[in-house]
Amino acid sequence: MDYNRILTEIAVEVEPLRTVGQQASYIPALARVNPDRFGICLLTTDGGGAELGDVGERFSIQSVTKVFSLSMALSLKGEALWERVGKEPSGSAFNSLIQLELDHGIPRNPFINAGAIVVADVLLSELSDPEGEYIDFIRRISGDPTVGYDREVAASERTTGYVNAAIANMLKYYGNLQNDIEDVLRFYFLQCSVKMDCRQLAQSFLPFADRNREFSFGGVSLTYSQVKRINAIMQTCGFYNDAGEYSYLVGLPGKSGVGGGIAAVYPGRYAVATWSPRLNEKGNSVMGMKALELLTSYTHESIF
Ligand code: DON
Repeated sequence: MDYNRILTEIAVEVEPLRTVGQQASYIPALARVNPDRFGICLLTTDGGGAELGDVGERFSIQSVTKVFSLSMALSLKGEALWERVGKEPSGSAFNSLIQLELDHGIPRNPFINAGAIVVADVLLSELSDPEGEYIDFIRRISGDPTVGYDREVAASERTTGYVNAAIANMLKYYGNLQNDIEDVLRFYFLQCSVKMDCRQLAQSFLPFADRNREFSFGGVSLTYSQVKRINAIMQTCGFYNDAGEYSYLVGLPGKSGVGGGIAAVYPGRYAVATWSPRLNEKGNSVMGMKALELLTSYTHESIF
């Protein structure tokens, strides 16, 4: 497969979308990012790859980190994790509060904010050095020891994170947070702030695509079945209330973030990361979604 040629064609086709959509502004630090960016990096499980555009510029990967958090929590807790968070698509916005009350404090899945806040609480309880061990795992899986938190973004989100604070309070009310609300929120915002470029992001998702190699990074080990299940949750829940549309158009397990990043995998073949900060009304990158739609259309490489 000539991925270089395909990415070049994709770049031409998505170019008219460069000014479509708005970057996230509810986190003040994200509103300062230049929105007119586009990068795509694809890495194959046999060591090949192709890339194009702004692939070396780091951005806040935000909710894409929820895949790493879930991986860590599953490796620590196994199936017991599902006593505190569900694995059903929510059909609601990523920061929705409504279902949490209806479901008596059990979030629908680990990728909506409510679920990710529960997962952050699990990590806080289980790890002796949560901040250090979390970033150590991400450095190992990305293969880059320079990857780190963006503390300015984390602090910025804390100043306006009213809805997440409401979610955390409701979780606490229902007995689904073990730690102090402030500690959980601080750790959750820090997780979301992790900065990477498209190359590092594609590299970090390659282990979810590569079924021949053991998933083991420092203390985080997952079985073949656990990786399969994380991919399944990406497919059904990775794009919130856009998950159906994303599945329909793209057909690859993936995860988006409000920093404009998307990571997706074609199991057995490749991992791909895109970045473009302008988002659609559901909080997902406009150019990124289109690029992935074109990628599976041109390559005929989709799980469906
Ligand atoms: O909690 C938040 O709202 C952000 N830190 C993360 C949300 C996010 O990335 C949603 N993804 N599209």
